[in-house]
Amino acid sequence: MVLELWNFVLELLFWLCVLPLAEGGKVLVMPMGGSHWLTMRDVVRELHARGHQAVVLAPEVNLHIKGEGFFTLQTFPTSYSQEEFGHFFQRHRQMIFKRQNLLKTLLEMVESMKNGSQMHSRTCSELLHNKVMIRHLNESAFDVVLTDPMNPCGALLAKYLSVPAVFFLRFIPCDLDFEATQCPNPSSYIPRLMTMNSDHMTFLQRVKNMLFPLGMKYICHINHSPYASLAFELFQRDVSLVDILSHGSVWLFRGDFVLDYPRPIMPNIVFIGGINCANRKPLSQVCIAAFLPSVL
Ligand SMILES: *[C@@H]1O[C@H](CO)[C@@H](O)[C@H](O)[C@H]1NC(C)=O
Ligand SMILES: *[C@@H]1O[C@H](CO)[C@@H](O)[C@H](O)[C@H]1NC(C)=O
Repeated sequence: MVLELWNFVLELLFWLCVLPLAEGGKVLVMPMGGSHWLTMRDVVRELHARGHQAVVLAPEVNLHIKGEGFFTLQTFPTSYSQEEFGHFFQRHRQMIFKRQNLLKTLLEMVESMKNGSQMHSRTCSELLHNKVMIRHLNESAFDVVLTDPMNPCGALLAKYLSVPAVFFLRFIPCDLDFEATQCPNPSSYIPRLMTMNSDHMTFLQRVKNMLFPLGMKYICHINHSPYASLAFELFQRDVSLVDILSHGSVWLFRGDFVLDYPRPIMPNIVFIGGINCANRKPLSQVCIAAFLPSVL
């Protein structure tokens, strides 16, 4: 009898300790559309399975983000139509597969990126100026914002709502991750994105590794300045994109050192490359062209 009572007390204590931990959190998810969403969707499904409540915030006109049983979809209006959106992607696709000289391709790529980022930043501005939506999101008292910082709108929204942010990404250009996490980033050892350098570089490759980011910085500046002005409007002080991204509590990288060259990391950077294999399927066709450096 005493033993039974003792067991009961122990069990009660156990549940009292565990229950607060098991309580579901409220997660605001702000994904990038397209293929980025397809991986994040698996994470949202798992969050739901573990008792968390997820609200996915997306523009009305988007790529692939549709309402599903395991989350609440919250959309906001955009100033562009489905048709304009479709045209943009069509032009982008045509450009990628067009065979022409490198300089022309680069210039068109810059223009297309500029168009794309203008569309994203305009949408972001519309969301952040949507008083009804912001009030609703603020009142919802989310515990965390899960977002792909490739589109910095989620990070900016998290900072604006003073909610911690978790970033979920494959990569981000212009070494913003290094800057925002204050991670060491020696250019003699870390091959820069798109340089095709490895972590063992000759002198000339190191020179290229140093010079290449300067060109990228220019492109990034074009893409990022709208967010800095938006942040200036919201916070009434100079806030750079790096400041916005340093709001991130944890950076979940969908990478793995099996594929990527070694690099320094910070304690809040976690590699979760295995998540890309969540939906395993046999390869039906290997696209060799994608692996040929000459394509760039
Ligand atoms: C960029 O936008 C302009 C004007 O909206 C359009 O004329 C141009 O074709 C677009 N370029 C690309 C590469 O999408
Ligand atoms: C959110 O609500 C709090 C408390 O009412 C308020 O102080 C804060 O300014 C609101 N934030 C935004 C971004 O509206």
